[in-house]
Amino acid sequence: MSRLLLKDVRPYGEGEPVDVLVEGEVIAEIGANLEVDADEIVQAGGAVLLPGFVDLHTHLREPGREDAETVETGSSAAALGGYTAVFAMANTDPVADNAVIVEHVWRRGREVGLVDVHPVGAVTVGLKGEKLAELGTMRRSAAEVRVFSDDGHCVHDPLIMRRALEYTKSFGGVVAQHAEEPRLTVGAQAHEGANAARLGLAGWPAPAEEAIVARDCLLAGHTGGTLHVCHVSTSGTADILRWWKSRETAGQVSAEVTPHHLLLTDDRLETYDPVNKVNPPLRTDADVLALRQALADGTVDCVATDHAPHAAQDKDCEWSAAKPGMLGLQTALGIVVQTMVRSGLLDWRGVARVMSERPAEIGGLADQGRPVAVGEPANLVLVDPETEWTVRGAELASLGENSPFDGMQLPGRVVATMLRGRLTAHEGKVRR
Ligand code: DOR
Repeated sequence: MSRLLLKDVRPYGEGEPVDVLVEGEVIAEIGANLEVDADEIVQAGGAVLLPGFVDLHTHLREPGREDAETVETGSSAAALGGYTAVFAMANTDPVADNAVIVEHVWRRGREVGLVDVHPVGAVTVGLKGEKLAELGTMRRSAAEVRVFSDDGHCVHDPLIMRRALEYTKSFGGVVAQHAEEPRLTVGAQAHEGANAARLGLAGWPAPAEEAIVARDCLLAGHTGGTLHVCHVSTSGTADILRWWKSRETAGQVSAEVTPHHLLLTDDRLETYDPVNKVNPPLRTDADVLALRQALADGTVDCVATDHAPHAAQDKDCEWSAAKPGMLGLQTALGIVVQTMVRSGLLDWRGVARVMSERPAEIGGLADQGRPVAVGEPANLVLVDPETEWTVRGAELASLGENSPFDGMQLPGRVVATMLRGRLTAHEGKVRR
């Protein structure tokens, strides 16, 4: 059995440094100055040890757009970003709306072996919003799909949404909604507000998100189904979720926020650089502050990247023709540290909660987001909390280079990532 020794780590950033011995796939021993033989020793110098991150919202683009990302390149980005599991969105080409495609993505994830890849199944056939996909067949496939989403599109028909919540309830599934009332966002290019008006960009109004979130909370409550709200972007949505979760009959509703909505605002639109185009759009300072607060107080459960790589020709063009989306996997931790830890809104236990424990619970992963403790699976990330690093979009592992954080200095460097006891990334390099 392989033995990996982590020297001088601080679990959850607490207490004096200890050593952690990983034997095979589990944490075997934790203690000061362990005197043991090991196949490999990682000198951590007091780095923070957390459960490996889980991303409920990743676009891996395979099959269909392997020029933007593949399971292999996206898995590399995930491992380098501290992730041990990702949920791969269904808006591929062909769409992951059947057992064949989800099994293909799942198999590719296993072959690459850097991160557990859990395919998300589409809610409706072809993401068209008209007819439920074969959710039960995807559930029963080798990929054991649990999370379903038409992400990129909203399941806007309330009856289809109701049926999806009812049907997935029968096998403990989750419907992850991209909340966007399409009648309110026809032609939308940017957050509807002063900046979009001044720059002549058609607006994406906040109520287009909020109306769907309110409706879907009501439907989840009525059906007893499980709803997860993708990429919450407005303070109004946070208010609705806070109100809904305070009710006794709230049922199963969870929500995620992206790193970019925790940091960037629509002031970024000034240059018309499409790297800042994303759906839902970057919003206002007030929204950013409300989202940070909502994440800190648990109204929003977790951080999810909405990692959305695009090929150069889909981004290096005029704003209206560019595809929405931003890279996220390798910069998520840095942004969470900058916006949430440095501001005092979250401690490292809080980071573990929003980046690992809650997403693992929502996604139904029993072996992820576990405590850093003896006997637990060694799905772990080691973080240097102090050293700042400069983001270089072109050097990130993704094939797409569309990082709006290019050139930014971020704290929170990933020193190492471990999947079932095996190093998948160490000192900025992927380990195969
Ligand atoms: O910006 C986005 N990009 N938002 C989405 O909902 C979809 C995603 C994509 O697939 O590129």
